[in-house]
Amino acid sequence: MSDPRKKIDRSNNPILEARARHRSVFEGTPLGAEVAQNMERLKRIQESDFKKPETTRIIAVANQKGGVGKTTTVVNLAAALAAGGLKVLVIDDDPQGNASTALGIAHEAGTPSLYDVLTGEKALVEILQQSQQLPNLYIAPSTIDLAMVDIDLGNDPERNEKLRQALEEALNTLDGLGHHIDYVFIDCPPSMSLLPVNALVAAREVLIPVQCEYYALEGLSQLLRTIESVRDSLNSELEVSTIVLTMYQKGTNLSQEVAANVREFFPTQTLSVEIPRSVRVAESPSYGETVVTYEPRSSGVIAYMAAAQELADRA
Ligand SMILES: Nc1ncnc2c1ncn2[C@@H]1O[C@H](COP(=O)(O)OP(=O)(O)O)[C@@H](O)[C@H]1O
Ligand SMILES: [Mg+2]
Repeated sequence: MSDPRKKIDRSNNPILEARARHRSVFEGTPLGAEVAQNMERLKRIQESDFKKPETTRIIAVANQKGGVGKTTTVVNLAAALAAGGLKVLVIDDDPQGNASTALGIAHEAGTPSLYDVLTGEKALVEILQQSQQLPNLYIAPSTIDLAMVDIDLGNDPERNEKLRQALEEALNTLDGLGHHIDYVFIDCPPSMSLLPVNALVAAREVLIPVQCEYYALEGLSQLLRTIESVRDSLNSELEVSTIVLTMYQKGTNLSQEVAANVREFFPTQTLSVEIPRSVRVAESPSYGETVVTYEPRSSGVIAYMAAAQELADRA
């Protein structure tokens, strides 16, 4: 029997390889029906290549609340788009380096990192590392030094524009080498220091992950004010393009209420897919892999793939 998916080049695609390995895992289990339904959706998503944006989309993923799913969203959207054939750059703009960890990238003290770029010691292209699992994915790692940037750049009149300058230069250099980048995701720390401001100045879009919990919208007004002031003074192009509902718990009133609330507040920006609370999503970073490569059939992966598809369709 011929494989209907044989038109896809499997040789270099970790998702498809892993999917083939796991093909029958759920057959005959109580989850089977739901998985079968999801598989149809997943198959459609994986078979349709993501639309290439006309110009590089630069997206700051921000929310000054910690633990809302910023890093998880960055690594999984980036991995999904990279696995779908686009070239993606992740900038780890958080001294904690969670995105670097989750993507399996070296970032111990002494590793050339975003700190060296923001302080003018190195060009951004000099610190990039390539993902071993997804060759289309490049990462600018963070080290703990990044926590010193506020102090080190305190008096520099261009302190808010360091990342924009470095990123523009890097994208031009990579273009010249035939490595045009389609998506840049900047993973912001949970604060409103120089680091997220640099991200908001470098980006054209802001993606805000909102956790489906009490107080989800609390604190967003502060973020929106910061975005507004960056738009007024430093980056007139900046817009909140995307809201992602994270850690959604199906069947709970709380999740439904929060989701409805957010959709009312951000009717056009909120993606229709909600990211479910999923153990697999929570576990995968400890393996240095994104859920996309670690567990390509979990509900979390399917949701992030659908989210990536929506994001790409809205280019
Ligand atoms: N959809 C999800 N289901 C289960 N756990 C999740 C999910 N998204 C994130 N987490 C977990 O929640 C914690 C916070 O997520 P993280 O992405 O690090 O948030 P932030 O970057 O906003 O601080 C992490 O332990 C992460 O693994
Ligand atoms: Mg984080």
